Amino acid sequence: MAQSLLHYFYNTAKPTLFCLNAERAHGIASLSMRMIAPLLASPPQAKIQPKILFDRKIYSPIGIAAGFDKFCHAPEYIRRLGFGFIESGSLTPLPQKGNAKPRLVRVVGAEALINKMGFNNPGFVRGWNTLRARLATAPADYQIALSLGKGKETPVERAADDYMHCLDLLRRDIMSEYLFYIAINVSSPNTPNLRALQKSRAIRALVEACVKISPRPVVVKFAPDFDSLKHYRASLAAALAGGAAGIVISNTTTNHALAEIPAALKNFGGGLSGKPLAARARTYLQETLKETRGKIPVISSGGVYSPTEAIRRLDLGADLVQVYTGFIYYGPDFARDFLAAANKTGRHYN
Ligand SMILES: Cc1cc2nc3c(=O)[nH]c(=O)nc-3n(C[C@H](O)[C@H](O)[C@H](O)COP(=O)(O)O)c2cc1C
Repeated sequence: MAQSLLHYFYNTAKPTLFCLNAERAHGIASLSMRMIAPLLASPPQAKIQPKILFDRKIYSPIGIAAGFDKFCHAPEYIRRLGFGFIESGSLTPLPQKGNAKPRLVRVVGAEALINKMGFNNPGFVRGWNTLRARLATAPADYQIALSLGKGKETPVERAADDYMHCLDLLRRDIMSEYLFYIAINVSSPNTPNLRALQKSRAIRALVEACVKISPRPVVVKFAPDFDSLKHYRASLAAALAGGAAGIVISNTTTNHALAEIPAALKNFGGGLSGKPLAARARTYLQETLKETRGKIPVISSGGVYSPTEAIRRLDLGADLVQVYTGFIYYGPDFARDFLAAANKTGRHYN
């Protein structure tokens, strides 16, 4: 099936999908896409040169952010739509139901989402079993990373145990060698105290411990909500000193004032994502790039609401870009339009 036809179908179905509860709509859209994946044409070709990151060839520098694929299927349709990678998870050691529903809402006028999912996930063992089977069959032009989080019940002082437990199981499994990278998520706003792990001393100790046993490069995902950019730089420097191999910047923001939120959602809580996050994500990206100075890859996430915005992040210096909310609003042609636009720029994103 031609992808533009799919885009047309999506945009026709979107008003109906958007009448449904956001989480249900995500489930229906994902399931339908998985069913029609075999009918999709092969991925669009990027004229831009593949880049090598973490010893892997990346054919398309745009990927899907964590939380989209919580059950770790790393679906084939994502590759066929032109995305070069996906960050599956976040997984916690034990299965979790997450917070009570509704926990995901749209702010349509702002092209935003607010979520307080609370790491609903199948637990490390089940999630990893699904993903390892997928890694065995995934084509080489589709890289699959895994995100790890802290369990809800784990006190923050014991948080390292959760990451170490999963990393230890990964280290014992040869299939983990096929992962693109392993993300240490310390920045979701919906797990009590998780963000305390971002403080300099805590993040350095955590990253040091993880790096020692991780079978793949350890990438740290930060929030865009530090008290000041100076504090962010300190935490970033600590993560680098601990041996972080890459940075994802950023997660959702708890600063809902960035968007015009309907009164009914004022006390919803959770993290805001999508277009209103764009400017702040750019600022944090630039700070990150100043600190990392090209030594390690930087992945830009947060408010990548259009293919043009994705190009803008690469132009700022990001090595890769991730999208979640923008994909929901823009539709299935996001990566394809990005690749077409990137090809036209004549620049080499490598
Ligand atoms: C429903 C939902 C669930 C998410 N779950 C996770 C998660 O499990 N782990 C994580 O690191 N980020 C998670 N995120 C954050 C996204 O990965 C991304 O960093 C954030 O939404 C900003 O990007 P965006 O503006 O393109 O959506 C989630 C976001 C949403 C909207």
